Amino acid sequence: MSALAQQKVTHMTKNLDNGPTAQSGFVPRVTLVTGGTGCIGSAICRALARQGHIVATSYRNEEKAKAWKADMAKEGLTFHTYYCDAADFESAEKMVKAIVADLGPIQILVNNAGITRDTTVRKMSVDQWRDVISNNLDSVFNVTRVVLDGMLDSGFGRIINISSINGQKGQFGQANYAAAKAGMHGFTKALAQEVAKKSVTVNTISPGYIDTDMIQGVPEQIRNGILGNIPVGRFGTPEDVANAVGFLTSAESAFITGANLSVNGGHFMD
Ligand SMILES: NC(=O)c1ccc[n+]([C@@H]2O[C@H](COP(=O)([O-])OP(=O)(O)OC[C@H]3O[C@@H](n4cnc5c(N)ncnc54)[C@H](OP(=O)(O)O)[C@@H]3O)[C@@H](O)[C@H]2O)c1
Repeated sequence: MSALAQQKVTHMTKNLDNGPTAQSGFVPRVTLVTGGTGCIGSAICRALARQGHIVATSYRNEEKAKAWKADMAKEGLTFHTYYCDAADFESAEKMVKAIVADLGPIQILVNNAGITRDTTVRKMSVDQWRDVISNNLDSVFNVTRVVLDGMLDSGFGRIINISSINGQKGQFGQANYAAAKAGMHGFTKALAQEVAKKSVTVNTISPGYIDTDMIQGVPEQIRNGILGNIPVGRFGTPEDVANAVGFLTSAESAFITGANLSVNGGHFMD
């Protein structure tokens, strides 16, 4: 057995220590989470690794990725990290080829990478528009495009696109972000129809306001105002989003495709 294959088996066994037993019929799958070193991405990576999947994630900042991997190792979790600028097709293609060569065909893809560049349309520069569209929406096409054939060939696939409540309802100062996130769900619905017969499902998750660094940076008065609009009475946690990903990537979610699952505490009901 090659060193990498041995590492893969050890890794699977290790992550399965926290995951379901063999009797449950659980199948560990090669998983890619883009932007996995971020707030929500970290929770998604943890959840999928604890289920027993083999999880790869992309990074742009090598130092950040090394520190992240070391922190995760302290929790007993092993991840495979690969450089990728998901806004760039060739970079996405290079990453996916490397993952497939190291770990095998990717059967679960979570398109989580995203950025904001907030300002009103009257003040928005062309760069602010393009950056948000390319990092949030082009990235979804780029990574999905190069992962898809492997999923179709293997006869199983789960694609989850992490959108936003603001793609559903719009938000002052976020025309670029709302357009990209709404576009993501259009992509979900079209692709879901193209691949359904091959046991590949495609779904969107639209988180509401999640208690991340971004929310903590909002002035307290505005934060309290947002909180007043959330019927459940709290901000979401990254784990709330990760739990939804855990279900939609499972074998049990096979009959759900083309859906947009709101994870927002009742803040917006479509
Ligand atoms: N936080 C919220 O309340 C909230 C609500 C609704 C939806 N969302 C969505 O949830 C997702 C995660 O958000 P978060 O709050 O966890 O943000 P975050 O902590 O800033 O994480 C975003 C991650 O995406 C990566 N990324 C961005 N552009 C990329 C690119 N072109 N190629 C590769 N990686 C890229 C970042 O990498 P670097 O660190 O290298 O830049 C980072 O790891 C985003 O899609 C966001 O729009 C968040």
